[in-house]
Amino acid sequence: MTAKRDFLTLADVPAEAWPALWDRTWELERDRDHAHADRVRPFDRKTLALVFEKASTRTRVSFEVAATELGGASSYLSSDGSQLGRGEPVADTARVLASYCHAIVVRTFAQARVADFARHAAVPVINGLSDQHHPCQVATDLYTVRRHFGDLAGRTYAWIGDGNNMANSWIEAAGMFGLDLRLACPDGYLPDAGILQTARTAQRALGRGSITLTTEPREAAAGAHVISTDVWASMGQEAEAARRRAAFAGYCVDAALLAHAAPDGIVLHCLPAHRGEEITGDVLDGPRSLAWVQAANRLHVAKAVLEWVMQPRAA
Ligand code: CP
Ligand code: NVA
Repeated sequence: MTAKRDFLTLADVPAEAWPALWDRTWELERDRDHAHADRVRPFDRKTLALVFEKASTRTRVSFEVAATELGGASSYLSSDGSQLGRGEPVADTARVLASYCHAIVVRTFAQARVADFARHAAVPVINGLSDQHHPCQVATDLYTVRRHFGDLAGRTYAWIGDGNNMANSWIEAAGMFGLDLRLACPDGYLPDAGILQTARTAQRALGRGSITLTTEPREAAAGAHVISTDVWASMGQEAEAARRRAAFAGYCVDAALLAHAAPDGIVLHCLPAHRGEEITGDVLDGPRSLAWVQAANRLHVAKAVLEWVMQPRAA
């Protein structure tokens, strides 16, 4: 018996399977411009549906191009431009899309809605961002770190800013891979307590890694090899932007904060960025920023994730 694979959070790919997935990502990156007619392409003549209830540049285009370059095609649906926006249930939408398409990327609000898509679609569902998780992005960030430093182990990771979907996926990663992660978040903007607890339990079982919370960005950044940040108001929180700007004053990743990092420390940002808010332009566009490599890597990881979900798993 086989069952379909979904990718709703990072933990849907077992920790021990990630190194092979990232090695495959590297092959896809390296071979992008070469034709490999002899290789089996699991997305050949298949179609990827992209159901996006929030805006996107990187996630949408990287998956569209990934589907094309793997030999398939894609079909994009926004909530406004589909019957979802007029109240057609997720269950009905998922069931119908799965009868045309071979995998579905969903970007939406509640994680439960992504899970609902997965439950009702007979084909793999990939979480292209929810309010709780952003697994495709953090999978890419980890790939970027691995390519830059050679390994994830032995590094210190810092998260500066909002305890949002990105922070939650970083916490999940820290639990899975036993990373030392320090998060600096203002009071009232902490990451998900359940995700934190699960990750700490996973680290205890592994016997390595730590996840600490502070309200002091310098404490989190001290000696860090990887400093990550993200916008202060995520999609859906636009009305809170002014209040958030006030709450996050002092949480900007600038040259002064970066001076506290390890001498070879790098800066990541999933983009889009607000220069002068969560990160200064000189840091984002400076020599220690890998944000542009990170963004480019979304394509290679999208392909590897697409290949991974298309392999049936033993039920
Ligand atoms: N980083 C990221 O997911 O970007 P988009 O919102 O443009 O897809
Ligand atoms: N936290 C951001 C990430 C965007 C890629 C958001 O959810 O809007």
